[in-house]
Amino acid sequence: MLSSLPFVPPEASSIAGDVDALFFFLVAVSAFFAVLIGVLLVYFAVRYRRRSNQDRPHPIEGALGLELLWTIIPFGLSMVMFFWSANVYTRIERPPDDAMQVFVVGKQWMWKVQHMEGVREINALHVPLGRAVKLTMTSEDVIHSFYVPAFRIKQDVLPGRYTTAWFKATKIGKYHLFCAEYCGTLHSGMIGTVTVMEPSDYEAWLSGGKGSGQSLASAGEQLFQQLGCVTCHRNDGQGRGPSLVQLPGKTVKLEDGRTVVADEAYLRESILNSQAKIVAGYKPIMPTFKGLVSEEGLMQLIAYIKTLGGPEGAAAASASAAASTGGH
Ligand code: CUA
Repeated sequence: MLSSLPFVPPEASSIAGDVDALFFFLVAVSAFFAVLIGVLLVYFAVRYRRRSNQDRPHPIEGALGLELLWTIIPFGLSMVMFFWSANVYTRIERPPDDAMQVFVVGKQWMWKVQHMEGVREINALHVPLGRAVKLTMTSEDVIHSFYVPAFRIKQDVLPGRYTTAWFKATKIGKYHLFCAEYCGTLHSGMIGTVTVMEPSDYEAWLSGGKGSGQSLASAGEQLFQQLGCVTCHRNDGQGRGPSLVQLPGKTVKLEDGRTVVADEAYLRESILNSQAKIVAGYKPIMPTFKGLVSEEGLMQLIAYIKTLGGPEGAAAASASAAASTGGH
């Protein structure tokens, strides 16, 4: 309904209607009070103008009823805004567990996308209709922002960090993808297209897509061998480094007594800045891989490590299994 208005982008995700409803509520409240205050301002200016030089109005001592009214109503309204927007916000921030994963790397000035199945694309993202998609994103250089107006999602993409965004597309079609953070001379050209397809078309597209024909995890496994990770991180736990089996999402005890959750950020840091967090019982002997692994390579390694199980790994594995069977 709203999307037929020329100033509203199409509503093409499960969250879009909620975001718009909240937005229009905020606009309506603001407009109501802007008009109310404007009209009263003019009315009072005329009604209570000074009529003569001798005009001496009675001082006003206060009006309890009025003061309660203009305290309670705005308080109630702002609480409605708070709980309503907090609700929408938490739904935007929390991807469902069964979301399919897609990795995104921003760089000056393009969007690079890797699907779990190994297909890569540039300035384009193909997704199936009606399926939750979780984007894990990072940048090779400066801060970018992944913005799809039709999905009502916008998320900063930062160098040295993973940020996530998720959506469930509800309408077949092609939608704009923008970079929404000024990132240099060609920032305005850092744009692309999100294509929402029927799940069966998506499966066909995936299997015919450009790529090495190798899934992200198996590319990661290859990298794991090439970089020699496997010589220390042996799966049987007998290596000089800790075994990575069942690691993703697990709580890890460190040498200095702290504990950390082995999320994507921890895995990334442990590869690039290996001395930052030493696992209890191991020596700080791992070399840094800074400069040796690209951002895309890191995502491949993490995808591989997730296939080794663990609280997060298991969810990712079952989600990608669902993805490969879901379309048939
Ligand atoms: Cu990337 Cu603006």
